[in-house]
Amino acid sequence: MKILGIETSCDETAASVVEDGHKILSDIVVSQIDIHKAYGGVVPEVAARSHIEAIIPVVDKAVKNWDEIDAIAVTHTPGLIGSLLIGVLTAKTLALVKNKPLYPVNHVQAHVYASFLDSASILGKEPPADQATDVLTVSETNIIPQFPFLALVVSGGHTQIMLFRNHRNFEILGQTRDDAVGEAFDKVAKVLGLPYPGGPSISKSAKYGNAEKYHLPEPKMDNPLDFSFSGLKTALLRAVQADCGKDYTFPSNQLKTLLNDAQRHDFSASFQKTACKVLTDKLLLAYEKYQPKSIVVAGGVAANEELRQQINERLPIRAHFPEAKYCTDNAAMVACLGYYVAKNQPPTDPFKLEVLPS
Ligand code: KG4
Ligand code: ZN
Repeated sequence: MKILGIETSCDETAASVVEDGHKILSDIVVSQIDIHKAYGGVVPEVAARSHIEAIIPVVDKAVKNWDEIDAIAVTHTPGLIGSLLIGVLTAKTLALVKNKPLYPVNHVQAHVYASFLDSASILGKEPPADQATDVLTVSETNIIPQFPFLALVVSGGHTQIMLFRNHRNFEILGQTRDDAVGEAFDKVAKVLGLPYPGGPSISKSAKYGNAEKYHLPEPKMDNPLDFSFSGLKTALLRAVQADCGKDYTFPSNQLKTLLNDAQRHDFSASFQKTACKVLTDKLLLAYEKYQPKSIVVAGGVAANEELRQQINERLPIRAHFPEAKYCTDNAAMVACLGYYVAKNQPPTDPFKLEVLPS
């Protein structure tokens, strides 16, 4: 079964054709990062307009032969309303014009399904004896997550730990009470004067820094599987102010002009280490409580090497990490989840499908 996936929930316009939920036949992603860079973050109206310009050429490039497409899957929740609308309107129109069944999918859940794609990689302990490397590709080993599995979703909009019992049944065990972890990376990068998106910039800068230089607090939550990154972000801001000899009345957007590269590197490394430790602590806690068969880490921040290393070192079983390009937003993960949705529920009436921003 060949499914066309369409993804426009934030600032990537993407379309991909995936066969039987794992084999990627085409994968087109047009990123708006360069457009939003100038503003230090995603501008929703600009994002929606850019999706309008990109969506038809992107779908055209992804689909070589419409006769081969069995169904269309589209992200309809959660995301920016204007962005979601472009993908959903396109998918509804194509479903009607090309006479294809239509399946709506959830973006956060789709991130998790990136680990079912052939290109997904697994980084973990104890590789099988016949594997010299500790990075195994699924196509080589045919290893996919086994139910029940735990999923840690870490992106710019979401930070959640989920328990998947099967394709139809999952539960959110904990989530962020304020900022998503990717959002915290992006905001901290802004304070430090590092380019958007903050995750990759902080990760690069942290390579030259001393992660022990600044001791940042770890939040205590009522539900130990919930997250909070707002306090960590503010603690980082206070540490920058203290290092620069300024108090809270000094404009935070000017602090970057007072920092040198050595300070930037140390702040990046200290922040990254603490944020990744918080994520790893909670994942370990959930692992001990639920004893899952597999662990999946997904979303843009799953590309972070420090996070991969901490999870690799501390979790007792191997975790599934998608290849870096399938950690950030893409449509292959949407088509992959669409396959399992199509197997388990009837298609949606294109006239009735709505977007659900949150
Ligand atoms: O999953 P994604 O592409 O979009 C959302 O659904 O939000 O995630 C984007 C987020 C951004 O906040 C970005 O800074 C972060 O993922 N990110 C990273 C890395 N690459 C992307 N964070 C930490 N380390 C990275 N290497
Ligand atoms: Zn995403």
